[in-house]
Amino acid sequence: MSNIIDAKNLGKQYRLHHGGLFVNASLKESFTAFADRLRRSVHPAPLEQKKIVPQKVESFWALKDLSFKVAQGERLGLIGRNGAGKSTLLKILSRITWPTTGQVKINGRVSSLLEVGTGFHPELTGRENIYLNGAILGMNRTEIRRKFDEIVWFAEIEKFLDTPAKRYSSGMYLRLAFAVAAHLEPDILLVDEVLAVGDASFREKCLGKMRDVGRQGRTIIMVSHSMAAIENLCTRVLVLDKGQKIMEGSPARTIQGYLNAFDDKDKILSIEQWDDRRGTGEIRIHSFCVLDHERQPVNTLVSGKYYIFRFGYKAGIDKAKSIDFSFTVSDRNGRVLFRNRTLESGLDLPATLCPKGYLDCRIPRLGLTRGRYAFGFTMIVDGVESDHLPGAQGLYFDVMDGDFFGTSQMSDLAPVIVDHKWTIDV
Ligand SMILES: Nc1ncnc2c1ncn2[C@@H]1O[C@H](COP(=O)(O)OP(=O)(O)OP(=O)(O)O)[C@@H](O)[C@H]1O
Ligand SMILES: [Mg+2]
Repeated sequence: MSNIIDAKNLGKQYRLHHGGLFVNASLKESFTAFADRLRRSVHPAPLEQKKIVPQKVESFWALKDLSFKVAQGERLGLIGRNGAGKSTLLKILSRITWPTTGQVKINGRVSSLLEVGTGFHPELTGRENIYLNGAILGMNRTEIRRKFDEIVWFAEIEKFLDTPAKRYSSGMYLRLAFAVAAHLEPDILLVDEVLAVGDASFREKCLGKMRDVGRQGRTIIMVSHSMAAIENLCTRVLVLDKGQKIMEGSPARTIQGYLNAFDDKDKILSIEQWDDRRGTGEIRIHSFCVLDHERQPVNTLVSGKYYIFRFGYKAGIDKAKSIDFSFTVSDRNGRVLFRNRTLESGLDLPATLCPKGYLDCRIPRLGLTRGRYAFGFTMIVDGVESDHLPGAQGLYFDVMDGDFFGTSQMSDLAPVIVDHKWTIDV
């Protein structure tokens, strides 16, 4: 496969001016700075504090030494925390801004949906903007006309086709911008957070369209904070942090790696000293962790993935007639969502015990939606409570939306997902 994008040592430096108005600031930031200065002139500081603050110019790198290649037909997902440099990179690729260092070679026509407003002329009507964007992509009138109806149908703006774009609501603007970007047959489609805005049905329509564009073998680079959408649509994922590439690889693995990397809570929880527990203590749980399919401890889980819930125990006895262990998972209101119990699912714990070991509960597909969940547990030895800790505040794990059904639908209406299939019988 040939590379359609080849970026070498890309860097983008921004200069921030302190004390005056920001050079690169948004209108809101400038206004806040201005209002602040006005306030200071109406209520001057006491004499001794009144100093002239020289304007300080500070520069920082929004992207640093970033190299990557994208092959034709690849669908690359860009993820990273706020301010990581994702939008800056898409702006460079769509030539809205230029890199300070490095270079990027692009062998194809790029169409992008970045922040609402870019690529659209506010004074022109919807119709004129469609033709303008087509022309920018190098298409002739006949080619654009062929796509025109589809764009208008997709954007649902028939009635407003001859209204200037500046009169559009932000939702209409976004629908038209996405429709134009996705339908005008670009070689490379760049999309920044389209799923963060718009209503659920429009988001679904966009995802469907992006799937079609991908199936046509076009190249897509997509930024999203929705891990389910990234996992469903992308063939490769790149993680940016502070302007640098910190991870890259297959979606499932890279997403889990990203979630682990920014998690500073202890991944193996010691519960030896935890108060608020009952029981004789013959067998006690001293640690808890969740392991992923590579047996690495994780704090943030993804819906639909394989996990092992691992409880470390210590036994003060070496024989017991019966051992029954269970744990519960509860929502933030303390409502128990499910309980997994050795006795019910058929694990016959051995009568002779090692002094310490692990009780591992394998969950082939985690059926929880995005949220924070508490857990608690109970160990019963010979019918007597040996160790019991109810679901408590500090005992929790987090779940991110994942592509449970492989459809990129990510409802979090209810906390529990039950695996199922639909058929129609007539
Ligand atoms: N025009 C600008 N002038 C100055 N700084 C900027 C400018 N544009 C972006 N930045 C800064 O560059 C850094 C990277 O911003 P960028 O918008 O690329 O992040 P992002 O990864 O898209 O974040 P988010 O997930 O919040 O959208 C941030 O610290 C941001 O404040
Ligand atoms: Mg951004």
